[in-house]
Amino acid sequence: MGEHRNLQLAVLISGRGSNMLAIAQACRAGRIGAQIALVISDRAGAAGLAAAQELGLSTAVIERTQYPVREDFERALMAAIDASGAGWVMLAGFMRLLSAPCVRHYEGRMLNIHPSLLPRHPGLHTHRRVLEAGEREHGCSVHLVTPELDAGPVIAQARLPVLGGDTEDSVAARVLQLEHRLYPQVIGLIASGRLQFRDGRIVLDGRALETPLAAEELPADALAAEAPARASAGGGVGAGC
Ligand code: GRF
Repeated sequence: MGEHRNLQLAVLISGRGSNMLAIAQACRAGRIGAQIALVISDRAGAAGLAAAQELGLSTAVIERTQYPVREDFERALMAAIDASGAGWVMLAGFMRLLSAPCVRHYEGRMLNIHPSLLPRHPGLHTHRRVLEAGEREHGCSVHLVTPELDAGPVIAQARLPVLGGDTEDSVAARVLQLEHRLYPQVIGLIASGRLQFRDGRIVLDGRALETPLAAEELPADALAAEAPARASAGGGVGAGC
C-alpha cells in the first residue's frame, strides 16, 4: 500500500478512443500514478489517434494490412510497445485478436475493457444481446487478457440497470460512462501497488480476490484514497512482487 508508481502505459485502440482519453485525463490530472507512453492504433483513420495527437501523446499506426503475415504484424506491435518503455498494455477498443505468444509476452500486464458483465456476452454487439435477452442488468468489465477472447480473469465490474425504454444507443452511452470511470480506477489501483497479478490470480491488498471488484469498492481517486479492505477477500498470499 502507498507505494505509488508511475506506470508507463501503451494504449491500443482501433476507433473513437474515448477510453484512451479517459485514461489520459486521469493521468494528466494526477488522479492515477500512470502515464501514457504510447498510443497505438491499427487503423490510420481512427478518430482516437487524432485526439491523442491533439493531447500531445506519442502515437503510432501499425496496420495489419501492411503485414502479410500476422506474426510479423504482432512482432511490430510488440517492438513498438517495448521500445516505448511501456510496462503495461491497455486494450481500449482494440478490435483485433492477439495470438497466444503476443498475449503471453504481456502476461499479467495486459488489460482490456469490455462492455458487458463478463462472463456474460463476450465478443461483439453486447448491448444488442443484452436487450434481446431481456436482461435487467448490464455493465462493463476490466479483465486480464488471456489468449481466449474476453475470457481472462475479471478484475472489476461496474453495473447499471437496463431501463424500460432503453435502446442499443442509450444503454451503450450509459455503459460507456461507467467504462470511463472504471478503467482509470483499476489502473490507479495497480499504480498504487494495491492490486497485483500473481500466477493468474488477482490480488488486492495481499489477498486473492474470489469475485471481481465492484466499482463501488474502488477509490474514486486512486492516488489519495485508500479503499476499505475487502472483508470477503480470499486467503492471503505471500507479500512482495
Ligand atoms: C468500448 O465500449 C470498449 O468497452 C470496447 O470498445 C469500445 C471502445 O470505445 N472494447 P472507445 O474507442 O474507447 O471510445
